[in-house]
Amino acid sequence: MINLLNINDLEEGTSLGLDINDLYMFAVKKNDDIYLYWNRCPHIGTPLEWEENRFLDADAALIQCSTHGALFQIDDGLCLAGPCKGKHLQKVDFTIKNGCVFIDESKLHAPKSLT
Ligand code: FES
Repeated sequence: MINLLNINDLEEGTSLGLDINDLYMFAVKKNDDIYLYWNRCPHIGTPLEWEENRFLDADAALIQCSTHGALFQIDDGLCLAGPCKGKHLQKVDFTIKNGCVFIDESKLHAPKSLT
């Protein structure tokens, strides 16, 4: 298991880019819940962030791709608007234990283009 972060290290309404052995993910904290996705837009596969650790729109209400502006729901990764409308960001499975977010590297299923 890999300890990704302490949930208290991520402030409410913010996002964080993560590089785990050259596998790129990002975490978002919303309403005290943590969401974890592969950092790959379902449109053409580019990383999403505007700048380091900035994955959200101006209101921190949606995830926004910096390449063509697609907007995604934070809780399920569904694209609401943009060129990949109706597609989803891919979630990364994790567990929370003792206030920390863990992923099981043996069970990671990275999108093909990231492997
Ligand atoms: S690459 Fe994300 S919207 Fe086009």
